[in-house]
Amino acid sequence: MSKLSFEARDGIAVLTLANPPVNSLGQELREALVSAMERANSDAGIGAIVLIGSGAGFSGGADIREFGTPKAAAYPNLLTVLSEVENSTKPVIAAVGGVCMGGGLELALACHYRVGAPGARIALPEVKLGLLPGAGGTQRLPRLLGVEAALNMIVSGTTVPSEKLRATPLFDVFGEGELLDTALTFARRVIAEKMPPKRVRDLAIDMPNAEAYLQFARNTIKAAAGPYPAPLACLEAVAAAVGPFDAGIKRERELFTALMLSPESAALRHVFQAERAAARILDVPEDTPARPIRKVGVIGAGTMGGGIAMSLINSGLPVVLLETTQEALDRGLATIRRNYQGALRKGTLDETSLAQRLALITPTLDHASLSDADLVIEAVFESMDVKRQVFETLDKVARPGAILASNTSALNLNDIANVTKRPQDVIGLHFFSPANVMRLLEVVRGAKTAKDVLATAMRLSKTMGKVAVVSGVCDGFIGNRMLARYAGAAHDMLMAGALPQQIDAALQDFGMAMGPFRVGDLAGLDISWALRKRRAAEFPGRDFSNAADVLCEAGRFGQKTGAGWYRYEAGSRNPIPDPAVTAIIEGYRRKKGIAARSVSSAEIVARCIYALINEGARIIEDGIAQRASDIDVVYLNGYGFPAYRGGPMFFADQTGLHEIARALKAIAAQPGSDAEVWAPAPLLTRLAQQGQTFNGFKGSIS
Ligand SMILES: NC(=O)c1ccc[n+]([C@@H]2O[C@H](COP(=O)([O-])OP(=O)(O)OC[C@H]3O[C@@H](n4cnc5c(N)ncnc54)[C@H](O)[C@@H]3O)[C@@H](O)[C@H]2O)c1
Repeated sequence: MSKLSFEARDGIAVLTLANPPVNSLGQELREALVSAMERANSDAGIGAIVLIGSGAGFSGGADIREFGTPKAAAYPNLLTVLSEVENSTKPVIAAVGGVCMGGGLELALACHYRVGAPGARIALPEVKLGLLPGAGGTQRLPRLLGVEAALNMIVSGTTVPSEKLRATPLFDVFGEGELLDTALTFARRVIAEKMPPKRVRDLAIDMPNAEAYLQFARNTIKAAAGPYPAPLACLEAVAAAVGPFDAGIKRERELFTALMLSPESAALRHVFQAERAAARILDVPEDTPARPIRKVGVIGAGTMGGGIAMSLINSGLPVVLLETTQEALDRGLATIRRNYQGALRKGTLDETSLAQRLALITPTLDHASLSDADLVIEAVFESMDVKRQVFETLDKVARPGAILASNTSALNLNDIANVTKRPQDVIGLHFFSPANVMRLLEVVRGAKTAKDVLATAMRLSKTMGKVAVVSGVCDGFIGNRMLARYAGAAHDMLMAGALPQQIDAALQDFGMAMGPFRVGDLAGLDISWALRKRRAAEFPGRDFSNAADVLCEAGRFGQKTGAGWYRYEAGSRNPIPDPAVTAIIEGYRRKKGIAARSVSSAEIVARCIYALINEGARIIEDGIAQRASDIDVVYLNGYGFPAYRGGPMFFADQTGLHEIARALKAIAAQPGSDAEVWAPAPLLTRLAQQGQTFNGFKGSIS
């Protein structure tokens, strides 16, 4: 199928981009565009050329499917296409409707005239991938919109509705009617009035105070960009637009090339691809029909059940919310209302939408109300006995074909599924707290979970605006299984001689959103204390003790009691280092016979992050995660890992697996180290020996 159609209409060549879904500028379309421009220019019967997109709009820019393939750089590249368009001897008119982003907008900017329509979405989003628009966008957009407006769009990457730009020189004409008709009418005028090709590059920027403004913007952007180099590079490119065009284009290219080689952009591009890859399940064909989800039951209106119900009603799905007592139900509903009040105050939600959402919830104490639900999500206490009872009841009341999901954090999903006579319909949907805010959803695949149930869960996650990652069944699934190693390493450092504030600072400097001890105080130390007590009862003879036990015994449960690893002043979440905690830790070390030594920040980061990586490797080996990039998606979206480092497995690849394996071996050899935990995973050792990376690894495990 041709990616472009050429039609001559009364002396006007209409070039229609036809590369679904968003007319991305892949190699075949680029080649077809160059040929079509040559054809139109050499045809004496053609007086003007209209470029228009079919389907979703003008063009969404570069073709992400080409990234990393020879096609991305194959002739003609985007710059060649743009110069072909800009240097056309016949006027070229871009008909801008629907999506017009990135390279698509740069193509429109290289045209001589632009006609617009309402509803188009205009953006240069390259900064989100750690890049800048590298095909003249930083030079041409300021010439049309002015430096300030263009800079805002380029540095933020945000999408601007065309209506907001209708009165700017970006559009020569803005029509309410059919876009092609508006473009053809304008093209006829261009021919009749002999309007010449008008090149954006020839416009001058008239801004007498440019330097002062740019210096102000430079300071602001520098302060806001943190470790990301792209926003400042965007500014420097736009600053160059104030001068001659050719020098500006040269500067844009230099800055673009430097960003392309930066580790931050490599990481962000990896994240972009990783999130798309996570949606694909290796043995579930993409066209697997999903089961229709029209109504959802949620069991338990506590912390998680309430958040899950909000996620569902936010995407328009009716929810039946079931509790054991009227009191628990009322409490759950009151919390949901209170959470929405915050959105009302911020103005992100209005009273009408709030009422519409709340009307989607049917509270109930009766299991029979779940009989017509297409999906039921259980979020009751984390106890196998309670879950077993719930699933036995569900098996009786749910209609045949309904999907039965558990939000368990760590219980064995297969055991839960086997309580029912329909284990193929049972799946884990592991939301993260607060469930209405956190993007991550671990979709837990049981031994017998049906493929269409998995396909349905992936589609539902998309409906709720979440990013789903498939995990096999194991203790803690992907995220919490790795977190246990990370927390263990942090505790090792505490025992070795570091204090909570030093460990938190080291990991926050590395880029983690919050250090592990601050996270503990936020989540509540009593929760993991209860878990350790349960484990100790389950496995007599094994030592699950932790310095946090002493804090809990002293009633220090974290923020909720005003004291945990830190102390907190009333009404404040600001952690204050506490000498009482130092004394508790020192006492605990003495009790365990440990002599404190000096610990560096580098050692803290290496131990904690390498522990994550090593467990990640085992998770791939065990077939729990489908691919290394899925683990990255989990850590970036659920555990505050910095996006500019691309996730733990990508960070390992960048550091070099040989170096990681060497460091792990050295830790394993230290006295007191648990060799089982610290010995490099066999997959890591093998890939390191072969000079491979986790994310490049596609082979079989054995
Ligand atoms: N809190 C978290 O951060 C988090 C994160 C992910 C997953 N989880 C998991 O989610 C589940 C719920 O955790 P939570 O933090 O919301 O607990 P919670 O104690 O806040 O809420 C549990 C609710 O379930 C209700 N309930 C208990 N038995 C019930 C039954 N038979 N029928 C109906 N309702 C019943 C309780 O009345 C309570 O309101 C657990 O399995 C937990 O491991 C929790």
